[in-house]
Amino acid sequence: MKTQVCIIGGGPSGLMLSQLLHLKGIDTVVLEKHSREYVLGRIRAGVLEHGFAELMREAQCGERMDREGEIHDGFYIAHDGQLDRVDLKKYSGGSSVVVYGQTELTRDLYEARDRMQGKVIHNVEDVALHDIDGKAPYVTYRDGDEIVRIDCDYIIGADGFHGPSRKAIPRSVLKEHEKVYPFGWLGVLSRTKPVSPELIYAKHPRGFALCSLRSQVLSRYYIQVPLTDSVEDWPDAAFWAELKARLPQEVADRMETGPSIEKSIAPLRSFVAEPMRYGNLFLAGDAAHIVPPTGARGLNSAASDIYYLYHAMVDHYLNGDDTGLETYSQKALARVWKAQRFSWWMTMLMHSFPDAISYDQRLQQTDLDYLFSSDKALGSLAENYVGLPF
Ligand code: FAD
Ligand code: DHB
Repeated sequence: MKTQVCIIGGGPSGLMLSQLLHLKGIDTVVLEKHSREYVLGRIRAGVLEHGFAELMREAQCGERMDREGEIHDGFYIAHDGQLDRVDLKKYSGGSSVVVYGQTELTRDLYEARDRMQGKVIHNVEDVALHDIDGKAPYVTYRDGDEIVRIDCDYIIGADGFHGPSRKAIPRSVLKEHEKVYPFGWLGVLSRTKPVSPELIYAKHPRGFALCSLRSQVLSRYYIQVPLTDSVEDWPDAAFWAELKARLPQEVADRMETGPSIEKSIAPLRSFVAEPMRYGNLFLAGDAAHIVPPTGARGLNSAASDIYYLYHAMVDHYLNGDDTGLETYSQKALARVWKAQRFSWWMTMLMHSFPDAISYDQRLQQTDLDYLFSSDKALGSLAENYVGLPF
């Protein structure tokens, strides 16, 4: 098989790039390890920044997002028994975010790829990258007993944190920066009315909590839990009781509870791999960087990589200009690090750290006091949350 761009990974990054390139007449093949049902069964991000929503529209995949997604002009920070609102629109100079689940967005991208007869191959095994720093790169995968070879001009590693693409870059070239946090998030999806029309990020001595939503009848809640906990430690009743205990009383009192329809624990990690290009391989999204979910940056950081790669590929194939490809790593990393900084800051601000000394706790409190006493501090929070320009 032959293609111009071979994309490893059929998550949002890979599908979005494939769709955008297709619309410009650039041929791609997407290789996905899992079945479509499996990919669509993963409940992940919920908040899209303005630039991501624009990219969905450019990919001709924005129709359902515009119909069913909710525009949010603000969110709340709960602390010390009170709720303070962050007016995103006011403090960011007019921007907002779209609340639309990653599952729905991925479904829209798959449907668009189907409509245009895009090549998305599922259940591929043993994906391997070859000759990435040579003139004739290719990718192989196993389909039953057969080894299939795809010759291409470029390989995109959009295969998430555990995929093979990043690992194909020699250790002597790749620098990895990692910070792990001493807790995870336990997430629950339930068919209940959301407790608040806007998200609530709650700081509490018992630990962080987040009230989010997917629609007016579907709620998504998270609580900070120790890394040693497993889902079995959290039957529904225990989850709801702990969530309520971390929220201001008036919020807890109006919380509608019900059976969980999904429950999972995600450890928190900050991670960046540099460079994001090696030879003809370009890394994108979680393959190159991970953020703790506190600032809702994970999926949005993937989107900015795709934006840069899309324009770089279009310039290469349609205009004969390679500047975008040559500067991809540098440009993408500049924005990636800003998302890292913001996610780290919001994580440090909002969580309870098991080894925090009283000095750390007072600084955390002061950071919060400062935030709500300074329009400039709120401006910084808002411009990062709605997404820095690409
Ligand atoms: P992925 O979505 O990981 O997609 C990569 C794809 O590559 C997957 O479909 C995978 O199956 C495939 N793949 C892997 N290995 C291979 C292989 N060998 N061959 C072929 N294909 C392969 N972000 C937020 O903003 N908010 C959140 O609440 C949030 N929650 C999260 C919870 C969890 C458990 C995780 C893991 C992430 C969460 N994120 C969240 C982050 C966000 O979901 C990711 O940033 C986003 O999915 C990145 O998209 P991606 O396409 O780059 O990677
Ligand atoms: C969601 C997840 C986040 O990490 C976040 O910051 C906001 C919302 C969510 O899943 O809805």
